[in-house]
Amino acid sequence: MTQRALAPATFADYRAIAKKRLPRQLFDFIDGGAYQEVTLRDNAADLDRLRIRQRVLRDVSHIDTSADLFGMKAAMPLALAPVGLAGMFRRRGEAQAVRAANAANVPFCLSTVGVCGIEEVAAAASTPFWFQLYVMRDRGVARELLQRAAAVGCTTLALTVDLAYPGARYRDVRSGFGGGLDKWGDLAVLFDRARRFAWLRDVAIGGRPHAPGNLARYLPDNATLPQFSAFAAQNLDPSVSWKDVEWIRGEWKGAVLLKGVLDAEDARRAVDAGVQGVIVSNHGGRQLDSARSSIGALPSVIDAVEGRIEVLMDGGVRSGLDVVKAVATGAKACLIGRAWVWPLAAQGEAGVTRMLAFMKKEIEIAMALAGLTNIGEITRAALDRPDI
Ligand SMILES: Cc1cc2nc3c(=O)[nH]c(=O)nc-3n(C[C@H](O)[C@H](O)[C@H](O)COP(=O)(O)O)c2cc1C
Repeated sequence: MTQRALAPATFADYRAIAKKRLPRQLFDFIDGGAYQEVTLRDNAADLDRLRIRQRVLRDVSHIDTSADLFGMKAAMPLALAPVGLAGMFRRRGEAQAVRAANAANVPFCLSTVGVCGIEEVAAAASTPFWFQLYVMRDRGVARELLQRAAAVGCTTLALTVDLAYPGARYRDVRSGFGGGLDKWGDLAVLFDRARRFAWLRDVAIGGRPHAPGNLARYLPDNATLPQFSAFAAQNLDPSVSWKDVEWIRGEWKGAVLLKGVLDAEDARRAVDAGVQGVIVSNHGGRQLDSARSSIGALPSVIDAVEGRIEVLMDGGVRSGLDVVKAVATGAKACLIGRAWVWPLAAQGEAGVTRMLAFMKKEIEIAMALAGLTNIGEITRAALDRPDI
């Protein structure tokens, strides 16, 4: 249990503040996972179960948390994961988040379905950012997005491959996120929004337009959440296959990371496909419920790729300690989703900046007390229970 935070310090504190501020529909969209949320819970619980070895009497007066991430010397082995619709959680949320990421010197990855489009984020950013691609039925859309991302200097592409079908997210059904409510339900949604004054002023009124900027030309003006959900359901392409990965390799000059690989056989296939890395991920427990946790799947993926490509992970990373555990398990770096979205929703750019500073400090403290002075020293030997 966390006490009410006057000054938020942790993931849980920011989540509690965001819960008060956001309309229920948006809170549940962020917080929820697929079906019974087994995988969502496992992501965090399996990280919690790992133990770090406490070591003493090593000189830890200089701790270096920096990590090389695809040409960038990042302040720590951490990046902001692509999160759709962040501009619905805080005014022009993606632009605020990229500024916080730049200040903290970690990569920011923009979602295909961010409220702020590529150009708006580029205008806010002071260093190159990463771009995440969903492949739509019309491959012309993907080509156009890749060209726009390349034109503003995006370096690294996260190609998300675990959304062949949208997962069964029942919190979204109950809240009417994708539509389908009767008129009383619609009224209840409006009423709930109307009483979130701070959000209403900041986002609903001050944060327009809300339709994802990258897809604006394919959506009706002022598209509603149900209209956007319907568009996504109709246009995401379930026929995407390894052939498309090859095609995208040809279209994109920078590094390509396959996001959503959880299986050793798929990881070996990714090596053959010539991508630079995989992100071990189950989409934050939002897709296949009862899939393995990301940290649980990580060792088999690491073993499968035999060091030939980079392996990153996301899912359940809530603190700097989790980052140390994931790196000790073999990840090059972690991405965080909800851990940047709750601070954004709660306090905007300042919240993300503060959360990233806390996470960096937590990495430093954990390294110092585990007797480790640079990221390269964080190996499986740093864990007391290397297997979950
Ligand atoms: C609200 C929300 C929206 C997301 N939107 C996207 C997206 O547009 N593209 C994508 O590749 N992943 C998306 N994800 C998944 C994240 O990139 C990431 O894999 C996941 O959040 C990691 O789990 P965590 O939230 O426990 O850190 C989304 C996740 C959340 C919570």
